[in-house]
Amino acid sequence: MEWRVKYIDYPSQYRKLEEELVSTIREVLSRGDLLLRQNLEDFEQSICKFVGVNHTIGVNSGTDALHLAVEAAGIKPGDEIITSSHTFVATGAAIHHSGAKPVLVDIGDDHNINPDLIEDMITEKTKAIMPVHLNGRICDMDKIISIANKYGLLIIEDAAQALGATYKGKKAGSFGLAGCFSFYPAKLLGAYGDAGAVVTNNNELAQNISYLRNHGRMDDGDVSGWAYNTRLDNLQAAILQIKFKSFPDWIKRRREIASKYHEGLENIEELRLPTPPVETGDFFDVYQNYELEANSRDDLRNYLTEQGIETMLPWGGKGLHQFTALGLSDYNLPRTEEMFEKAIMIPMHPDLEDHHIDYVIQTVNQFYRNPK
Ligand SMILES: Cc1ncc(COP(=O)(O)O)c(C=O)c1O
Repeated sequence: MEWRVKYIDYPSQYRKLEEELVSTIREVLSRGDLLLRQNLEDFEQSICKFVGVNHTIGVNSGTDALHLAVEAAGIKPGDEIITSSHTFVATGAAIHHSGAKPVLVDIGDDHNINPDLIEDMITEKTKAIMPVHLNGRICDMDKIISIANKYGLLIIEDAAQALGATYKGKKAGSFGLAGCFSFYPAKLLGAYGDAGAVVTNNNELAQNISYLRNHGRMDDGDVSGWAYNTRLDNLQAAILQIKFKSFPDWIKRRREIASKYHEGLENIEELRLPTPPVETGDFFDVYQNYELEANSRDDLRNYLTEQGIETMLPWGGKGLHQFTALGLSDYNLPRTEEMFEKAIMIPMHPDLEDHHIDYVIQTVNQFYRNPK
């Protein structure tokens, strides 16, 4: 189907950066710099500087970033990690593959974990909290940090969707023991394939993760233990470094789009919108997605499809506890379940033109003015 407004537009971004990308790819390939080379180090340094941390370890995906962070943090089989059900299955998988159990907490109106419900879920097995900063908005970290301190829990942030978001002036990824980013193509900063990174201020953790990503191999030729092969390719790092130059403009544009959507849709009673961008205040949101709640969501989605507007449902429309094969069905999470019945994500990427945004706004308004 030819969309009038695409949810994501990879070719449009590529066309704008083509010349620089192609010449860099040619240069990297001509040098034969493929693994653990200078482009990777340069990109890791850029992320350190941007997030405000001492170490960045590039890995093969956001999922592996989470998995290695959990393992390097010393989480053991039988431990529990508290997170939310409204997240990508990767968050749960990273916990599961370390032998620990994901323990799920309901969300609040910001679609992030509701910190007021965390304490009730803490047991003697709880070792960590994994807040997921969804849709480019950081969780309520003051409350989460104070609970973690009270019970002696680690914080490992799933910041896959939040590069550049801040809370009280601090960047996503810099609050806990470790922060994990995804550079999956559709992310705020996307590679041409899978990529991710762990950030941390902890020297020992950084060292362990750099061993874990590379078969456990240490400088002296010995191995640190059983490990993995999950390095971030040097070529992808070179690509990410180029795209990173446009990153501030992309965030600015995402925030502009979110403001326009807010202005154009705020009068529709049937919708519950995300918080609009503000210049001052605790939260600087980066709008990885524009996820809203809509009455008659399925009808709205069908109508938008008919009118050529591509939309998505978060994770296909289900939280972790609603995928029966994962064995996490024993949860009653009313706000998460209500959200999954109503949530829809409308196009949000920096290459949207103003006429696209106006068309989306006009079409959503039309739907609610003339219900079928
Ligand atoms: C919240 C969240 N966690 C983890 C991941 C996993 O990242 P990746 O796809 O790079 O493995 C993603 C993205 O896909 C995500 O959105």
